[in-house]
Amino acid sequence: MLKPEVKAFHHADTGTFSYVVRDTGGRAAAVIDPVLDYDPAAARTSTESADRIAAFVRDNGLEVVWILETHAHADHLTAAPYLKECLGGTIGIGSGITRVQSTFRDVLNLGDALTIDGSQFDHLFGNDETFAIGAVEARAIPTPGHTSDSLTYLIGDAAFVGDSLFMPDAGTARCDFPGGDAHVLWRSTRRLFELPDETRLFICHDYGPGGREVRCETTVGAQKRRNIHVGGDRTEGEFVKTRTERDATLGMPRLILPAIQINIRAGRAPEPEGNGVSYLKIPLNQF
Ligand SMILES: [Fe+2]
Repeated sequence: MLKPEVKAFHHADTGTFSYVVRDTGGRAAAVIDPVLDYDPAAARTSTESADRIAAFVRDNGLEVVWILETHAHADHLTAAPYLKECLGGTIGIGSGITRVQSTFRDVLNLGDALTIDGSQFDHLFGNDETFAIGAVEARAIPTPGHTSDSLTYLIGDAAFVGDSLFMPDAGTARCDFPGGDAHVLWRSTRRLFELPDETRLFICHDYGPGGREVRCETTVGAQKRRNIHVGGDRTEGEFVKTRTERDATLGMPRLILPAIQINIRAGRAPEPEGNGVSYLKIPLNQF
């Protein structure tokens, strides 16, 4: 199994890890979960963080063939279309995005303003669809539960799990967003645990529990042994109880309303109104 080289980029404001994955034998690369900077007070976007990724790609002479989303994120806005403009590449996400679009079209009462066939994205990955980054074989493994479109990109020996698993001492991501389901996430973790123990596993968020420094890389074996929510001899029932009780204590992510509205449109703003300005909606008392 080929071992691609992985470069992580930490976005401190949202605790997100983005990645550039490259075929060590060539120039082909993929960008995973890039972040668009966003100031919620001013509703202003900027590209400092995405520009760091673009600079890395250019400095290393890489050719971006894919820009991959592990899911429609609720905690940050995606920089995928900006990076596509800068670097090229095909924007991909799981085919479950159509269910997320349908759910949030209703929540936000978007009606005809949102097409829900996923056509905003360049490519929708089917279950276990294979693709390649240069000579490195890759597969899109469906891992729903946190969201209905969540998937894991297995690229060579490296699995990019999005929010399906956090670091072993942090457990799992919440399952209480519309379309989330703790039972479904449990089954997704069983799928990930079928991968070889030495599979490198790269997560999308870490907040440094207990004051430790943030980390983004672990292995399937470490998760199987030590994940505090789904590892060791924990059962589905125990997990669902832990997850559900914890989710009941969590407030909504700071950027969920702007993030979801931008991200279900593949990172683009809603159609500008007559004055040329795009507007986002804020549903009162819905979250
Ligand atoms: Fe997420």
